[in-house]
Amino acid sequence: MSTTPSLDALWMPFSANRSFKQAPRLLVAADGMYYRDVDGRTILDATSGLWCVNAGHNRPPIVAAIQRAAATLDYAPGFNMGHPGAFALADRLTRLAPPGLDRVFFTNSGSESVDTALKIVLAYHAARGDTARRRLIGRERGYHGVGFGGISVGGLENNRRAFAHHLLPHTDAHLPTTHGLEHNRFSVGQPTHGAHLADALEDLVARYGGDTIAAVIVEPMAGSAGVFVPPVGYLERLRAICDRHGILLVFDEVITGFGRLGAAFGAQRFGVTPDLITIAKGLTNGSVPMGAVLVRRDLHDAVLEATASGIEFFHGYTYSGHPLACAAAEATLQLYDNEALFARAAALEPTWAEAVHTLQEAPFVIDVRSLGLVAGIELSPRPGAPGARGAALMADCFAHGLLIRVTGDTIALSPPLIVSESQIDEMVAGVRAALDRLAQRELNG
Ligand SMILES: Cc1ncc(COP(=O)(O)O)c(C=O)c1O
Repeated sequence: MSTTPSLDALWMPFSANRSFKQAPRLLVAADGMYYRDVDGRTILDATSGLWCVNAGHNRPPIVAAIQRAAATLDYAPGFNMGHPGAFALADRLTRLAPPGLDRVFFTNSGSESVDTALKIVLAYHAARGDTARRRLIGRERGYHGVGFGGISVGGLENNRRAFAHHLLPHTDAHLPTTHGLEHNRFSVGQPTHGAHLADALEDLVARYGGDTIAAVIVEPMAGSAGVFVPPVGYLERLRAICDRHGILLVFDEVITGFGRLGAAFGAQRFGVTPDLITIAKGLTNGSVPMGAVLVRRDLHDAVLEATASGIEFFHGYTYSGHPLACAAAEATLQLYDNEALFARAAALEPTWAEAVHTLQEAPFVIDVRSLGLVAGIELSPRPGAPGARGAALMADCFAHGLLIRVTGDTIALSPPLIVSESQIDEMVAGVRAALDRLAQRELNG
């Protein structure tokens, strides 16, 4: 009897549904650094699932916390009601956050965190009577999830195309991407060229007026579009321009949060403090859906004080601060702390960088970029078929027991922070072998 159900009914997210269903990849279990698939094969996870399983899979303290929570308080309404776990978790998050960002709004995903942050920004300006500040500025090739807010400020054309006439108003201006191969090829850590790209914000100020811009939102290191590490000085310059014109700065840290870059948040890694931070993914180690927005206290206070009494902010989700998610997050943060995983990522960074940069000489590789425990390995596209090499490589690696992520023709590696040095070598050797096989296949037509 087959253990595989019919695949027809499920419309898979961000997937090539038809080709997947011809050659499915089905995961049935996970432990530590490994997945197991439906055929019983072991697969080394070089992507932390989808950038979220930072402490490794199925860690017993997190599993136990979720089980306990499910058996104790299955659900508690969060509107005019609460449970102690949500308050405790919010308090704990403020101790990880950069100073000043000590108010927390819970959501269920990165997309919801982004939409929530954009709403907080607009509510804050409105509360102060600064209602001309409506413009929300994102960046080309930015990824901020799939809500209408997120795709409006986001800069990935594929995600916007079908909805081009329904994007939010006042969101059409974007900063230029910091992706630039000419000057920054094979950068280890932050590339040296490109701080000036932040000055595009001054151009937008000149065009629209600084007092019409509500906020700028960027990923401190862009992940999903292909690992674009911010050039030295870029984020600092963006912060300075925002300050000059009263513009709020939002860091979307859905990927860069929770140790990925060797610190709690990218904000601390780069030494630049935004006004709001969006988080999700690593918050619960991917185990239960949860996101949050970390907010500067005075923004929160201004919104609350603008209303004489009653509800101050008409926004929230049925599952904001869900008891299972709070329990999972609490256990996750404790595990990160017990095992000093953020410091571990920082300590492993040189080893990681050295290993991934050996791929510079592999077939098709035109760039390697690394920071923290992240690497982007960009391939030249197959002529006339962009993305084909990336897709073929991902399938080949999976068939050989290695989970990688590709975006177009860029490989993005982001292993759990518990990865061993020998597993790093295994990942790099696996990618190299797959590239060699791909080159051989293309040579043989
Ligand atoms: C920077 C960033 N923001 C937002 C999101 C969206 O998160 P979710 O898929 O949980 O909605 C992602 C997902 O990869 C992300 O990388």
